[in-house]
Amino acid sequence: MKGIEIVSTGSYIPGEPIPNDRFTEIVETSDEWIVTRTGIKARHFSNGEPTWYMGAEAAKNALEMAGISAKEIDFVLVTCCTPDYYTPTVACMVQREIGAVNAGCMDINCACSGFVYGLDMARRYLNFDDVKTVLLVSVERLSQMIDFTDRSSCVLLGDGAAACVLRAKEGGRFASVLAADGAAGGVLNARHTRRESPFLDESKRGEYFDFPEVRWDALYMDGKEVYKFATRVFPESIKEACSRLGITPNHLSHLVPHQANYRIVATALKTMGIDDHSKVFLNLDKYGNTGSASIPIALDEMNRQGLLKRGELVGVCGFGGGLTYASAVFEW
Ligand code: ACO
Repeated sequence: MKGIEIVSTGSYIPGEPIPNDRFTEIVETSDEWIVTRTGIKARHFSNGEPTWYMGAEAAKNALEMAGISAKEIDFVLVTCCTPDYYTPTVACMVQREIGAVNAGCMDINCACSGFVYGLDMARRYLNFDDVKTVLLVSVERLSQMIDFTDRSSCVLLGDGAAACVLRAKEGGRFASVLAADGAAGGVLNARHTRRESPFLDESKRGEYFDFPEVRWDALYMDGKEVYKFATRVFPESIKEACSRLGITPNHLSHLVPHQANYRIVATALKTMGIDDHSKVFLNLDKYGNTGSASIPIALDEMNRQGLLKRGELVGVCGFGGGLTYASAVFEW
């Protein structure tokens, strides 16, 4: 199978940074607590921009870097767990906005693992000749599901978008591990609004088990359980993806994890025996956890800073709602 080339990258970060101190106005917290527990110093929130708009702006940014027209895109793949509509998809709205008139369009929802799942899926499409160019957009407007009175979750998250133009790479090394633990999904959930039919038999209401804990209008998170899950699956899946290429994580030139919490990353590095922390890229101090957008926002920042050289091996690892997790190793 052919590998993948990330031809170009782009991103869109809404509004001004919201520093930790601003949260002291709305919940009982402190900059010191947030920084020491997570490493996050600021994040950005949508100033009304819908999800599709942020995704489209990131896409335009990536198309500009690639120097190609939107008409050349065969497939628009969007990763998102915070879409604007049940239908149309974010992918269709991005297509409409950028004029990718020759593209098939699809959303995938794997929460914070979305970018890695999307990369794997794009690569599989690109191995067939009828798909030459994929636009992969990862966008989240997590503020639309945050309870801003819940201090244990609201300080962690942010909004943002990133995009990549992808093509197949003959002989390019690529390995991925996609996984999930649906049985544990309740520890991180956010429920859709749900209407009921007028013919509902009231005696049946509540008969169907979703999860023991659901916030009907916002994100529910058991931080400790998510933490335990993340520190286990991050090293496991990165090591597995590396071993499929006959290498260990120490052989990677760059490791770009989901930007959830610096303590999760530090623990995972220790488990993997990675002493060279300079190969790990973190920007969660500026953006917080932007869900599936966090890894490609980091890749775009690295790319624009000239940190990524063609042929270098990059490892990415996402973990989050589902619970899902996924790692990939590929040649830049
Ligand atoms: N400010 C001040 N105190 C707080 C805050 C806050 N923002 N939030 C919680 N606390 C308090 C708690 O109430 C608790 O107080 P108590 O002991 O009186 O009950 C105390 O701080 C310690 O809380 P812990 O939960 O033990 O703190 P911990 O060190 O575990 O850190 C954290 C919490 C940061 C949430 C950690 O568990 C974590 O990072 N988990 C993973 C979260 C994650 O990555 N989620 C994915 C995000 S969702 C998504 O990706 C879409």
